[in-house]
Amino acid sequence: MKRFIAFTLVLMSLLILPPSVKADDRAKAMRHGRMKKMTCAGCHGMTGKGAQRNGKLVAPAYEDSSILKHDPEMLALIILKGIEPDLGTYGGAMVGLEKVYDDHALASVMTYVRNKWGGHDDYISDGQAAAWREKYAERTAPVTQAELEESRNSASPD
Ligand code: HEC
Repeated sequence: MKRFIAFTLVLMSLLILPPSVKADDRAKAMRHGRMKKMTCAGCHGMTGKGAQRNGKLVAPAYEDSSILKHDPEMLALIILKGIEPDLGTYGGAMVGLEKVYDDHALASVMTYVRNKWGGHDDYISDGQAAAWREKYAERTAPVTQAELEESRNSASPD
């Protein structure tokens, strides 16, 4: 009987542990991301609706972003390298934060914005962030409008 109970406990912990560890990682990333979002809020606003300056939208609202919903790799890339400015439309320019964010900060802020505005409940790991940084290590150019458009077009409709 004791053996059976021990066996059941081991089995249960196997079933329970992986998701709860993951949930804990997500919670940590969310907390860190909430602090880090201050950098983004200067342009995207504290509530993610886009800050206004002189009657002009500084940056787009997160909730309109298909990249947040569908394209984590493109999200990593724009946070790392920035976006070629479109000053006709927005009052600000998305700057690359590659030198400011380490892998953990990148993963955390991605987890935060994707969870809060992209409809996700997963988390981006430091390892994923490191892999994207490595993949684009040679690239210095910001993301172009054409690349943004391509990402939007390849997103499947909600
Ligand atoms: C200095 C201002 C500024 C800062 C800081 C900034 N952004 Fe941006 N962001 C912009 C502007 C402007 C655009 C629109 C660029 C365009 O489409 O031409 C943009 C675009 C985006 C987009 C793409 C929206 C879409 O789908 O087209 C995302 C996602 C985004 N920003 C997230 C972030 C996150 C997350 C941070 C913080 C890590 C951040 N931004 C920091 C100004 C900023």
